[in-house]
Amino acid sequence: MNRLHKDLNILVNRVEAWELSRVSAGPWRQKFHLMPPCGWMNDPNGLCWRRGNYHVYYQYSPFNAGGGLSFWGHWSSPDLLRWTQQPVLLCPDQPWDLHGVYSGSALVEDDTMYLFYTGNVRHWGDYDYINEGRGSNTALGVSRDGIHLDTKAVLLESKDYPPDISNHVRDPKVWKQDGKYYMALGARTRKGHGEALVYRSEDLRHWEHINVITTPEPFGYMWECPDLFQVDGQWILAVSPQGIKPYGHIGQNVYSCGYFPFYGDFRGEYTLGEYRELDSGFDYYAQQSFAAPDGRRIALGWMGMPDADYTNPTADFGWQHCLSVPRELHWADGGLTAWPVRELEQLRRNARTIEFSGTVQRDACPTLDLELENHGSRLTVALAGAAEICWEDGLLTLTLDEACGSGRTVRTADVHKLRSLRLLVDSSSLELFLNDGEQVVTSRFYPGEPCYLRLEGEGTAKLYDMCAMEMKTIQ
Ligand code: FRU
Repeated sequence: MNRLHKDLNILVNRVEAWELSRVSAGPWRQKFHLMPPCGWMNDPNGLCWRRGNYHVYYQYSPFNAGGGLSFWGHWSSPDLLRWTQQPVLLCPDQPWDLHGVYSGSALVEDDTMYLFYTGNVRHWGDYDYINEGRGSNTALGVSRDGIHLDTKAVLLESKDYPPDISNHVRDPKVWKQDGKYYMALGARTRKGHGEALVYRSEDLRHWEHINVITTPEPFGYMWECPDLFQVDGQWILAVSPQGIKPYGHIGQNVYSCGYFPFYGDFRGEYTLGEYRELDSGFDYYAQQSFAAPDGRRIALGWMGMPDADYTNPTADFGWQHCLSVPRELHWADGGLTAWPVRELEQLRRNARTIEFSGTVQRDACPTLDLELENHGSRLTVALAGAAEICWEDGLLTLTLDEACGSGRTVRTADVHKLRSLRLLVDSSSLELFLNDGEQVVTSRFYPGEPCYLRLEGEGTAKLYDMCAMEMKTIQ
């Protein structure tokens, strides 16, 4: 690799070592979620399995907890429980990616990793950076081991995209099918409509534009992080659309993260089913999925939201954001379900069963896993005066206490019938899976101690403490 790549890697290492004590002094480091060693994290990138290890790359700004120049940070693990920090793999070290190596995906073939990403360039000048002034270069990094980069090259530049497309084109998701390679790219048209461009290649290097996937009526101005995949025989287009008009309970956040059931052929005629959000909480965006070696479709999302007006107090300790737990996806009863991967059950300790009718209160570890069967017509699950989940009259409400929400207040979801609920609580996040994962509510929050759990209603719950995953850092 080039000299700049090496120097940037050394610099990142030194910054990480320097920040270590500040970061670890803070109260809200997560126990079973992937975080940046220091600095800022956003989207999961390049999710894959290669020769006995899962690889999770991510958007990483090591120099600034408030975000900045992006690299691809890297965690690897043999089992989704024991993680090792690896050196940054992609650095902004070329004229065509110097303002950030943006999001993308991995394709593994013959043990070689092909990493598709967007090289972001902001040209110097008086531009709007929407239709002019921005380079969004689709690039390919090749690595024989996922840790060292062998080569990097540009595949598509702004001039290669269809003429009606603005400068906002990014987040290549690549897969192989019927002996050919396909790529979905998130795009914004010059008229300000979101869509996904579909490309095809025979050799991973030459790409031909073959289709556009979009809604009959405009749905937002930009679709970030498209992910087109099949699960249980159903095609899904997951996207993070920006600029949709809120309707019903959809669009409570500044940007959305959801999916369309996809019918037809992505290479030709198709129709999109009804859009649904993947998550109704404050902090879930840029989901990416991949195929695990045992056939599971696993997804991770960024537990954050771009341009949100709420904050994260961890920035004062030199780091910000984390990823969701890996979630296994299924297509069931006409909808996508998401459920924490079964590996996480190995982190459970100290199981207790709680049968309740009325109100019960229990001491609870700050990190917990609660599985609850609901038998009543209303239910409240409250955490230490920090967060309250209420279900009544077909409506689910998550309310965060003012001091703990850091600007987050209330989110709601239509939940006609609540049969069951699973709540995963880490030091500074909660993930709520309703009715076997038919709906999910994800949020960061910043509780103080001590911690207790209050249940109100009727049901049976199993409560576990959650212990920490192993997260080995480079230092
Ligand atoms: C989504 C996103 C992507 C982009 C990346 C830059 O959060 O805006 O579209 O590639 O973040 O960090």
